[in-house]
Amino acid sequence: MKIKSTVAGLCFLSALNVNAQSKVEATGIKDKMQWFADAKLGIFIHEGIYAVNGIDESWSFHNKKISYADYMKQLKGFTLKKYDPAFWADLIQESGARYAVITTKHHDGVAMYDTKMNNLSSVKATPAKKDMVKPFFEELRKRNIKCGAYYSLIDWSHPDYPGFLKDSSRYKVASDYPRWNRFRNFFQGQISEISTQFKPDLWWFDGDWEHSAEEWESQKVRNIILAGNPNAIINGRLQGYGDYETPEQNFPVSRPNYNWWELCMTTNDNWGFHHDNNWKTPHEVITIFVDAVANGGNLLLDMGPMEDGTIPAEQVNVLKELGAWNKKHGEAIFETVAGIPQGHFYGATTLSKDSSVLYLFLQGKISGEITLKGLKNKIDNITVLGNGTKIEHKIVGKISWSPVPGLVYINVPENVLDKYVTVLKVKLDGPIRLYSGRGGLQ
Ligand code: GLC
Repeated sequence: MKIKSTVAGLCFLSALNVNAQSKVEATGIKDKMQWFADAKLGIFIHEGIYAVNGIDESWSFHNKKISYADYMKQLKGFTLKKYDPAFWADLIQESGARYAVITTKHHDGVAMYDTKMNNLSSVKATPAKKDMVKPFFEELRKRNIKCGAYYSLIDWSHPDYPGFLKDSSRYKVASDYPRWNRFRNFFQGQISEISTQFKPDLWWFDGDWEHSAEEWESQKVRNIILAGNPNAIINGRLQGYGDYETPEQNFPVSRPNYNWWELCMTTNDNWGFHHDNNWKTPHEVITIFVDAVANGGNLLLDMGPMEDGTIPAEQVNVLKELGAWNKKHGEAIFETVAGIPQGHFYGATTLSKDSSVLYLFLQGKISGEITLKGLKNKIDNITVLGNGTKIEHKIVGKISWSPVPGLVYINVPENVLDKYVTVLKVKLDGPIRLYSGRGGLQ
């Protein structure tokens, strides 16, 4: 989808407006963001009427792959009849994720909760007759998992929303402010509802690219949210008024220069349930996850359940495998910070918060000698995470007259390897110190 990827790319590039912090913000931004920085893994859920036919969420009618009328016929097929929010929450907990984000309303305008602002909801317009969000948040909270609300600012179904199909819109904001104002009251009303009914810990806006911060009244939206929950975290899709960046499906090759960021990524190539078998393997998901964390980010991994609430078996499997890996290696992931700069080690790394433990991630079936460069510290010991095996190391090329530290050669035997990613725990004699000179005498 060409239009889609272009706009998403643009959002990614737009820097956040850090001066836009509102007066209602009670806590410092760093305190507020701490649980998010520690969490590393979230699960995204795209569930809506698009799952009935298994077609692109909202974009299918916008991009004219299907008529609007036919798209909306899916309302009649949306049942959620096997929806088991406790099972969803259990699976999320098992994956090791510490937060989840669910679609309260996608660009198609169909609310998945009991909105009073119109009749277009899973409660009033589908045979499901259910609020999908409420019981899900209840189950998450029982398990101490933070609750995130995805909310699309775009509403291509609303009669007062300007945008509709890719090549036609209802009107232009500049030519009809009263009409735009009616829409503003509507969407801000929904935000108030979600805020009061569910008190989300995190807001995941989407679709901000169709209008400016002034048109959305981003500052006001931020105020509404923070008045309801001063600690709420807001993603970066509010035209400069969010707290963190949201690169979509991929992120830069080298470490992005953001304070906080989250890679949102699908498990196949689609957000919602689709006839798409291009599943990422557990190995691929785990290595991408490790790469994001090593670069200071989080992963928000998506699931797209079927219209009845069944989660596809491949997604269940990926979450379970990820969970088993996290159970064994969580120490190197959760509550850590981004690793050392590239060049010191050819692979992903993370550090304990006090930086006295360095974790090395060995992707694939690497065994034999691996090397670490420019480490000034003495190494207390090296162990294999999850099985405790001690590993020997040798310092090579340390010359008495040179300040350049020796190379650390670590011999990794084949029998300690994990089937996905092996982690070595390198315990240092204190906070990490890295050499960054020019070699020789310098
Ligand atoms: C994009 C798409 C939307 C999807 C979202 C998830 O912005 O517009 O369909 O829900 O990405 O990140």
